[in-house]
Amino acid sequence: MTATPPDFDADFFRSALGRFATGVTIITAETCDDRRPVGLTISSFNSVSLQPPMVLWSLSNTASSLRHFLQAERYVIHVLAATQLHLAKRFAHGPQAARFAGLALQRAPGGTLMLDDPECAAWFECCNLTQHEAGDHLIFIGQVERCQRNFNQPLVYHAGDFDLTPSTEPLSND
Ligand SMILES: Cc1cc2nc3c(=O)[nH]c(=O)nc-3n(C[C@H](O)[C@H](O)[C@H](O)COP(=O)(O)O)c2cc1C
Repeated sequence: MTATPPDFDADFFRSALGRFATGVTIITAETCDDRRPVGLTISSFNSVSLQPPMVLWSLSNTASSLRHFLQAERYVIHVLAATQLHLAKRFAHGPQAARFAGLALQRAPGGTLMLDDPECAAWFECCNLTQHEAGDHLIFIGQVERCQRNFNQPLVYHAGDFDLTPSTEPLSND
């Protein structure tokens, strides 16, 4: 099947996608060669399968952490709570060392490096099952080996911003 070319530009597409509210996650792993922590903020997380338990997320082809996530045997997906906005911002840019500076880390039961932060609304330790090329992103499918959750209010991302405050005015970049 061949798709017809879009009749909209990238900015309009981004704005339309922004109408879909998501949660926010931080995904962590370790570099294979020297075991340095890598992590980034990701909102493209979603469920795939209940049995076996599988999830997905997509990573830009231009992300500097791409090769590390391609090589990682496992990663941990942390679902952020509303109180963790500062972490969502911190893990969206800058050097990897600065993202982890001063943060407590621990090992998930399967050995994967993860944040030691009880505020996370949930976490999923995943086997790095497959990756699929899709346009300018790579879709990662993870098979969940262990997970945990609490009932903290989740952090929400919508229209390029971090809350769902009703607004009649478009947000910047919306
Ligand atoms: C709320 C939010 C959601 C994001 N979701 C994604 C995503 O789903 N996929 C992605 O590739 N980048 C996403 N990003 C951007 C990445 O976090 C950012 O490009 C990344 O940290 C760059 O790191 P790196 O180049 O060192 O790998 C998101 C950023 C924010 C603030």
